Amino acid sequence: MNARLMSLAVLISGQGSNLQAIIDSCDRGEISATIRCVISNEPDAYGLTRAQHANIPTHVLKHTDYSSRQLYDHALADLIDQYHADLIVLAGFMRILGAEIVEKYQYRIINLHPSLLPKYKGLNTHARVLAAGDKRHGASVHFVTADLDDGPIITQASIPIEGSDTIESLQEKVHELEHRILPRAIQWLAQNRLTVDAGQVLLDGKPITQCRTTCSP
Ligand code: GRF
Repeated sequence: MNARLMSLAVLISGQGSNLQAIIDSCDRGEISATIRCVISNEPDAYGLTRAQHANIPTHVLKHTDYSSRQLYDHALADLIDQYHADLIVLAGFMRILGAEIVEKYQYRIINLHPSLLPKYKGLNTHARVLAAGDKRHGASVHFVTADLDDGPIITQASIPIEGSDTIESLQEKVHELEHRILPRAIQWLAQNRLTVDAGQVLLDGKPITQCRTTCSP
């Protein structure tokens, strides 16, 4: 299937292991995308170093330098537009985006979340899954809407929870899932295979719920 070279702006706040997964997938030619810029709200985010190693322009946009979410979002949008990004990837970006910027880039912002949405929106998902005694846990990629962790789900992957699992072990296992599903979602978008109908994501015209974890890239 033909895919255009999609321009990405990747937003991070921390380690950037998912950023690295995207960089590696681009380098290996597995996804038809190029990262135009990496933006972090945290100056010490290690992901910035990863981006610099890959010769990707980086920017730090500290939320503490702005008096309101709206002003911060405007500055963010100005930066993103300088790079003509087709898609904005929130890869561990620990900031909530306001309704205005979400609307400006409708279906052009995707987020990665460490749970099987719609379960466990918000923070501390691994601890909450363990406390609830769930049998499975996982990760989701979804389109961003104005409601937190609530947009149409693009793809998910899951693992069984073992009796010996801890927050740390789940974090590691979920990271591995994330490193697979985030590049997959980007590639589907680059291939123009996704549409949204009545709040549900369709892959090649079929409801994505039928193949969230089994569809190959
Ligand atoms: C990921 O688990 C993501 O789901 C969550 O933050 C983590 C970021 O990890 N929102 P990294 O910075 O990509 O290593």
